[in-house]
Amino acid sequence: MVPAADARIRLAPPDVGAEEAAAVAEVLESGQLTMGPKVAELEAELARACDVEHAVVVSSGTAALHLAVLALGLEPGDEVLVPAYTFPATANVVALSGARPVLVDVDPRTMNLDAARISAAVTPRTRAVLPVHLFGRPLDWDAVAEAVPPGVALVEDAAGALGARRRGKPCGGLGVMGCLSFHPRKIVTTGEGGGVTTNDAELADAIRRTRHHGIEPRGEFEIRAPGLNYRLSDILCAVGIPQVRRLDELLAARARVADAYTRRLDGLVEAPSADDGDTHGWQAYVVQLDRRDEALAALRAQGIEAQIGTYALHRLAAYAGAGDFPGADAAFARALALPFHSQLDDADVDRVVAALRPYA
Ligand SMILES: Cc1ncc(COP(=O)(O)O)c(C=O)c1O
Repeated sequence: MVPAADARIRLAPPDVGAEEAAAVAEVLESGQLTMGPKVAELEAELARACDVEHAVVVSSGTAALHLAVLALGLEPGDEVLVPAYTFPATANVVALSGARPVLVDVDPRTMNLDAARISAAVTPRTRAVLPVHLFGRPLDWDAVAEAVPPGVALVEDAAGALGARRRGKPCGGLGVMGCLSFHPRKIVTTGEGGGVTTNDAELADAIRRTRHHGIEPRGEFEIRAPGLNYRLSDILCAVGIPQVRRLDELLAARARVADAYTRRLDGLVEAPSADDGDTHGWQAYVVQLDRRDEALAALRAQGIEAQIGTYALHRLAAYAGAGDFPGADAAFARALALPFHSQLDDADVDRVVAALRPYA
């Protein structure tokens, strides 16, 4: 038998099991694999979790962002502000919709969009701001909302923030639309999947239409504008439903692991946290340290899976020349995602911290 101390520590295996397997089997037996009742069931659970009127499930978080941006009806040359440090999908969907993503630097401590930099980036062409609750840390929403001029849409990239709360209000329910991801590194996963949340019935209809080829949602067989197929199958919806129902439990399990890390890492590295009064969504546990690359190599050499945080967009060829973003550069160089999932125990956390300690 492999001694526990040598066992591989996985980065982020999903918390799925018998309940999800039974739900999938039920869909397979029903013969209705897509556009069936599980879609509406998952949408109702998500709307409840985000405290919004409408949730529309789609095939990925990227599809959610793409549909949200398309629903804004942007014209070529319109600008959308996005954080310079984020998963590239946030900016990619803007570029692919024909508009221009304008990068705005992040606060190197929180790694979230720096609200104080928004006004300098706004021009007469600014149509929307697409900030991210990165790694599940709720944005300083009030500061962002205050900095956004009237008439400019505020859309949340809440890909990793299902379960997070800003001053008690669910992330994904703060902006005119919220975009969720159910990729396996997210708290709720369907393998691949996503959702758009909104309180605006017209936007919800637009998202539903474009998700389904542009076909009118209420029985009328007409296509007034071209759409896509970004639907989520009933098989995958069935995987998500039990997880959204136990979202509080999943979040509590992750908060327990986060707390175990934070107590051990105090004074060693910069540990993640949320603002007072907020609830972190704990999509990932991402620390910051100067010797990140050495630490990453050492963890991996000891069978501990770890990863960089995410991307500084202006360091990618697709967004080169966008300007200087020292906050994003610092996060790109220093952020380290530690193994993080509900099955980690104190011994695992001890092992990760011991491996990290020489580089702190
Ligand atoms: C901040 C952010 N936005 C968007 C996405 C894209 O989501 P998906 O992988 O489901 O397409 C991710 C996924 O990692 C993300 O972290």
